[in-house]
Amino acid sequence: MKSSQLRILFATSECAPLVKTGGLGDVSAAFPAALKTLGLDPRILLPAYRSVLAQLPKCREVARFAATADFPAARLLQGQIASGVPLLTLDCPELYDRAGGPYQDADGADWTDNALRFGLLSRAAALLGSADSPLGWRPDVVHCNDWQTGLAPVYLRYAAGARAATLQTIHNLAYQGIFEPQFVAALGLPAECFTPDGVEYYGKLSFLKAGLQFADAITTVSPTYALEIQSEPLGFGLQDLLAARRDRLSGILNGIDTALWNPATDPLIACRYDADTLATKAANKSTLQRRLGLALSPNMPLFAVVSRLTAQKGLDWLLAIAPQLLALPAQLAILGGGEPQLERSFRTLAESHAEQVSATIGFNEALAHLIEAGADAFLMPSRFEPCGMNQMYSQRYGTPPITRATGGLADTVVDCSPATLADGSASGFVFHDASADALLAAVERAAGTWRDTVSWRALQRNGMARDFGWETSARRYAAIYARLATNG
Ligand code: ADP
Ligand code: GLC
Repeated sequence: MKSSQLRILFATSECAPLVKTGGLGDVSAAFPAALKTLGLDPRILLPAYRSVLAQLPKCREVARFAATADFPAARLLQGQIASGVPLLTLDCPELYDRAGGPYQDADGADWTDNALRFGLLSRAAALLGSADSPLGWRPDVVHCNDWQTGLAPVYLRYAAGARAATLQTIHNLAYQGIFEPQFVAALGLPAECFTPDGVEYYGKLSFLKAGLQFADAITTVSPTYALEIQSEPLGFGLQDLLAARRDRLSGILNGIDTALWNPATDPLIACRYDADTLATKAANKSTLQRRLGLALSPNMPLFAVVSRLTAQKGLDWLLAIAPQLLALPAQLAILGGGEPQLERSFRTLAESHAEQVSATIGFNEALAHLIEAGADAFLMPSRFEPCGMNQMYSQRYGTPPITRATGGLADTVVDCSPATLADGSASGFVFHDASADALLAAVERAAGTWRDTVSWRALQRNGMARDFGWETSARRYAAIYARLATNG
């Protein structure tokens, strides 16, 4: 089948700006838009969280799902996102219309009914891909993302009649959606699938394992991560399954929305600039320093972080090297939220070094853009990183990233050395060892290069010239969809 005619249901638990906790939100908005540009017919399926209903008041009802023994009644509403891609939003007030985040309450505790909430999302995705779909539109491929939609391939495998093919994308293997075994029956799954070759994971039900086991194909979000997850430790217990299915597994790098993340047009930054007007970037730095209450010093580099605060991100190493970093001298701006211990540590660091360190705890999209524009260098010392978006945004904003060589970071950042400066490929600072010392060495190299204005400009321009847009990767997905629609 020609890929341009393909109908794709992109089932996801986030879609920016309606709901976003991390990169999945960015991908779920920009990637379907790229598919539409290629001529495919994508639709997004997303729970009608409170924030979604508030931002999309003009939705019309297109289907009703009656209550079953397993699930409450729900409605399917249709609207569209800014790119014009249709959005199907699953309206079930008792499961989704509540204050708090998509996965957790305001105190950071997982919602206790997550199995049901994302079981229903998976069930709806499967129904839309089955012969019983209530819509006139039936997808050729149901594209599932992370554990929250991992049961859809199982439901579809057991559905009667013609069915859509299924693709399961792994955005982060660290989150698997593991629940008590009684949910197998409670979510209407056949008992026979609860085996080690099915959805069972050490006696429990694993949503992600279900998707990986039953989907017709698997992708993950960078080529390096696709290799890393086939062995320990980054396989997080699923390495053998992934290695066994490696002929069905591809690593395709995420793209970025180059219109939304463009320093030449970004309405959220203080002064717009491009590769030819990089001197203007300094005005963003002083605005950022003023906004964050940092000393208005142009003479020390400003390092920045915008991140979920979790062990994955390696920011405990940043805390460990903070004294040496500040002694360079340098400034540090943190924007993030997550684990209370990390939030507290960064707050305390900022309180004791008010002129040099700022910690903004919480989620703030506008500040994230200003930080990309105003910082000198961007820190992502991740222990593991399936893809990572900010190292790509940073390069586009002339803010070289300092990254560990893992996952998508290894695939998108070229370490600065005399050789890579000479051949024009250098775009950031890469370190290898998973340690605070290795991070410190990279930070020191970055600070040294920052003082060499000619090399620094070259580094900035190299990053800004790179094409991180979605087109190439969207074509690779389209080829997979076409193969699945033809052969399953
Ligand atoms: P992950 O998905 O693991 O969190 P990514 O690098 O793929 O990491 O994507 C993170 C996305 O979330 C980026 O768009 C980043 O700017 C954004 N982000 C993370 N934390 C915050 C925050 N506190 N405020 C605003 N944006 C944030
Ligand atoms: C996950 C990963 C991140 C990736 C994002 C989007 O949250 O942690 O590395 O960029 O998904 O695929």
